[in-house]
Amino acid sequence: MSRVLVTGGAGFIGSHLVEHLLVQGHSILVVDDLSTGLEHQVPVHPEVELVCSTVDQWLADEPSESFFEAYHLAAAVGVRKVVEDPFGTIINNVVETAGLLQFLAKSSTPTLLASTSEVYGVGHGRPFRESDDSVYGPTTVARWSYAHSKAVDEHLAFALEETLPSVVIRFFNTVGPRQRGDWGMVLPRFVQAAMANTPIEVHGNGMQKRCFADVRDIVGALPRILHTPNARGLPVNVGHDEPISILELAELVRKVLNSDSPIRIVPYKEVWGRGFQDLQERIPDLARARNLVSLPPSRPLAETIRDLAESIRTEDSL
Ligand SMILES: NC(=O)c1ccc[n+]([C@@H]2O[C@H](COP(=O)([O-])OP(=O)(O)OC[C@H]3O[C@@H](n4cnc5c(N)ncnc54)[C@H](O)[C@@H]3O)[C@@H](O)[C@H]2O)c1
Repeated sequence: MSRVLVTGGAGFIGSHLVEHLLVQGHSILVVDDLSTGLEHQVPVHPEVELVCSTVDQWLADEPSESFFEAYHLAAAVGVRKVVEDPFGTIINNVVETAGLLQFLAKSSTPTLLASTSEVYGVGHGRPFRESDDSVYGPTTVARWSYAHSKAVDEHLAFALEETLPSVVIRFFNTVGPRQRGDWGMVLPRFVQAAMANTPIEVHGNGMQKRCFADVRDIVGALPRILHTPNARGLPVNVGHDEPISILELAELVRKVLNSDSPIRIVPYKEVWGRGFQDLQERIPDLARARNLVSLPPSRPLAETIRDLAESIRTEDSL
């Protein structure tokens, strides 16, 4: 049985990926420091081993194992976390990733690196194509530390291409069961507020548009992209390409969950302070992903909202 490494496997996307890899017949080592992940999200199964550690600590113990393939998802994630701790975000996302990629390069392990649509910054592409320029705001604005850190990660992977067969996945907004709103993720924040009948806070003017993909629709594509030789050495957008405004999203959540929550518009500066920059539209061009593998149609957002609410209910009752 082939052994696969998943860093960040106790997190939102990682735990769904681990379940998928298990069904595919792999044995899995999860390395996760549980900073935002949860131990009980890792399937209890004889073929799944969890090491509760940072990637750095795990590497310091000089693991002797080699892996059939690796998925590097561990990272500091979420606008709130990034704005509160830009230094920690950079160290976590860049320094630990550099160490891991060097380790994996020694055994030429095929590696999938989780990146983000944030690397486009305030880029002007409509929709965003992988070949677009990245345009960032000033370094005095903490939120850009996440985009910079992930862009450096991409450079690190591509710089090692002679020894490290890698593919970079630029996730666009990914949502679904087990996602939590603690670090500013919009959909779980809205769902939690709607369930509690408290105000749904829309940051900005609500006209900004995003595309939301259900995690269960996309994790299956990740191993297939990694196994496609033409994807090697490339960034690939992954997500859904149907935009919805954040105000429409708030209204949909209220309707689907039959909630009485009022919708409250809160200017960015009240939430994130002066100088916070966001972009009006973030839509992926999925042509590259579709050329590499067939992407399944996304399930309706209403179904994702219902299932996310159910997972929050279950989590709250634990
Ligand atoms: N969810 C999205 O919409 C989205 C969008 C773009 C990119 N991504 C990327 O996808 C990946 C997974 O994100 P997610 O949404 O599942 O977030 P998440 O916070 O649920 O998952 C990250 C996991 O990594 C762990 N972790 C963090 N730092 C670690 C370290 N140094 N060592 C070991 N474990 C560590 C956390 O405990 C957590 O379990 C991240 O790399 C993120 O940047 C996610």
